[in-house]
Amino acid sequence: MAMQRVDMLDVSSSELKEGFLPGMTDALVRECCREEKTGGQHFVIEMKPGFSTPPGYNSASMDIYVLEGSFSLGDDTLTVGCYTYIPGGMACGDWHSENGARVLFFTNKAFEYFPGEKGEIDLEAGDHIPVMESWKLSWADPMKDIVKKSTWVNPEGKQDRPPGVLTKALRKDDRTGEVIALTALSPGFIDPGTEHHPHNECLYLISGDAYIGYTYDHERKDIKEDLVLKKDHYIGRPPGIRHGPVCTQSGALWLIYLSDMYTGLYTDVDDWETRVGGYLAEANFR
Ligand SMILES: [Fe+2]
Repeated sequence: MAMQRVDMLDVSSSELKEGFLPGMTDALVRECCREEKTGGQHFVIEMKPGFSTPPGYNSASMDIYVLEGSFSLGDDTLTVGCYTYIPGGMACGDWHSENGARVLFFTNKAFEYFPGEKGEIDLEAGDHIPVMESWKLSWADPMKDIVKKSTWVNPEGKQDRPPGVLTKALRKDDRTGEVIALTALSPGFIDPGTEHHPHNECLYLISGDAYIGYTYDHERKDIKEDLVLKKDHYIGRPPGIRHGPVCTQSGALWLIYLSDMYTGLYTDVDDWETRVGGYLAEANFR
């Protein structure tokens, strides 16, 4: 099941859709991407001051991350950086935002909310994750254990993963392999090769900048070059889409969705130094 390919979308200026979400018609939505077979969706809800929706349930499971502002869901308050996972069918308290919020959603199938109704929990869904303040989690460097091979060569001359990537896992589903994580790239980070994955990989740039030298399919028919992403840009990648080299000048904070545990397949890029150097020498995001 593949996500739509989205090489680079500025979500902050994409169409603001009204009446987009069944059962939550007051929500204003900027769509990121959709999975064709399951109907799973990635989108941002812009809650205007005074936004409210009655208690109910959603038939889709929801990963919810607050980008800006705050809102309450029943007795819980979610501020910037808060995350929760609500399995399909689980009862939701009333939704309310006094001063407005921008909230990122990933769903496993088409969003359909049933206000005033009681649902049955989807037995295929993962366990509920209560509201989590992501700043309280520790950064970890799981890539150094996961990645066996890359195109980067360390100072000792061995293949290695370039240092400078840290992750906070928000949700890992052992059955489906799905991973939702915050990932930070250090300022000046460079990954010189391309990688692709046998799973979907979708990224929302919460803050910072990122440069991607090439994005292309396995037949090299649809090649994008020199993509520059800034805050609120989104990438949707189905399996097999090559991407890299990657670098960032001011650092990058992503929210990442993987449809299965991370697997990276690498290819060298001959002109990576010219590409990356050209960006880092001229970009000015500091
Ligand atoms: Fe990737």
